[in-house]
Amino acid sequence: MQTYDLIQKTRRLEPLSEGEIRHLVQGFTHGEIPDYMMSAWLMAVCCQGLSVEETVALTLAMRDSGDCLDLSSIHAKTIDKHSTGGIGDKTTLLVAPIVAACGGFVPKMSGRGLGFTGGTIDKLESIPNFRTDLSVEQFLDNTKKIGCCVIAQSGNLTPADKKMYALRNLTATVDSIPLICASIMSKKLALGADCILLDVKYGSGAFMKTPEDAETLAKLMVQVGQQAGKSCRAIITDMNAPLGAAVGNALEVEEVILTLRGEIRNALTDLATALAAQMLVMAGKGDIVLCRKMAEQALESGEALEKFRAMIEAQGGDGNVCDDTDLLPKSEVKRTVFASRRGFVTSIQSEEVGLACLGLGAGRTSDRPDIDMGAGVVFHRFVGDFVGQGDPLFTVHGISDALCEAAISRLSAAIEIKDAPAVQIPMIHKIIEA
Ligand code: URA
Repeated sequence: MQTYDLIQKTRRLEPLSEGEIRHLVQGFTHGEIPDYMMSAWLMAVCCQGLSVEETVALTLAMRDSGDCLDLSSIHAKTIDKHSTGGIGDKTTLLVAPIVAACGGFVPKMSGRGLGFTGGTIDKLESIPNFRTDLSVEQFLDNTKKIGCCVIAQSGNLTPADKKMYALRNLTATVDSIPLICASIMSKKLALGADCILLDVKYGSGAFMKTPEDAETLAKLMVQVGQQAGKSCRAIITDMNAPLGAAVGNALEVEEVILTLRGEIRNALTDLATALAAQMLVMAGKGDIVLCRKMAEQALESGEALEKFRAMIEAQGGDGNVCDDTDLLPKSEVKRTVFASRRGFVTSIQSEEVGLACLGLGAGRTSDRPDIDMGAGVVFHRFVGDFVGQGDPLFTVHGISDALCEAAISRLSAAIEIKDAPAVQIPMIHKIIEA
């Protein structure tokens, strides 16, 4: 089989067979197909697309490029959840303990921050001594005992995706719907949960900029999941504004704890409850009305908080953070910005917020690989809120005045205040079921 011919076929919109796709994935993973040939094929996919059958074949070949976990010892339906990434998206940290408190099992492998979007693993590692590098045995044991465990992607899971993602990053081939689908779904399928809930985000702080593109991606991922024998659903959600009040690692963990303690309730709480309810339905715990009630009850009763504490302690972390958030890392400098005029907050550009937090050190850049766990921003007003002149708008946390000043300029430009409120966009745009 000539790789040259396969590139030519995709370029000419001629479908590849399953065997031809496996040849590409295996050859590239084992170093037999050079980067320049794979780059050419990825670019052909970017420009011409792939059929659903080809996307399924690509996903399965990528899944099979490394190890697949065996979750059968959990002896219950397991539920995984994936977010396509956004600003202030800490829903996993809420959803996993809520679902566990309702009797569900959530074995979850998460990633680190990518570009201006934060990563669940970085957030969890802001909890003193929290370990995300557990062995597979520990991962399974903790899930069985507590109902949830969140660790970093490790071992030899989907090596094809690791190599292909690195190449896509260098060759402007990241934003292709079939390639994103295969990348995400191959990892989900290698983890092996019975049910997969996908939170597909659109907006300025997401990979997909429009609800239409998010829907195309969501439908494709649900089809691929189903064809691989999984129960799969997707929720399409708005990421034009940051999710919740906090953006940054320890700051987001603090918001999670305050939410679990019932001290705050905002759009994040509503989305986390909606996601948890869908996961419980998929796990067979009841219909959506009952599962929503169960999720709300787990939050209100404090049972979800206790699951979060148990998960932290089982992963070596200091569970006392649940009672005293001052135990989380803090940045030295804290500056609050006040509204210069009265009116309604009509937009907060989430991509700009992500970039401001990256500048503060809350994410990794090539010249600053270490994260400042305390850095970030906390908003005191959300889109739709009224703000009086002189009311607090947001507080920036960073290690120096200079870094905070730069973030303040960027954030101030990212917030729009007008005389009249804007039309509110619902957080959940659509639910895609099989
Ligand atoms: N997240 C992934 O894991 N892969 C992609 O291609 C895009 C987002």
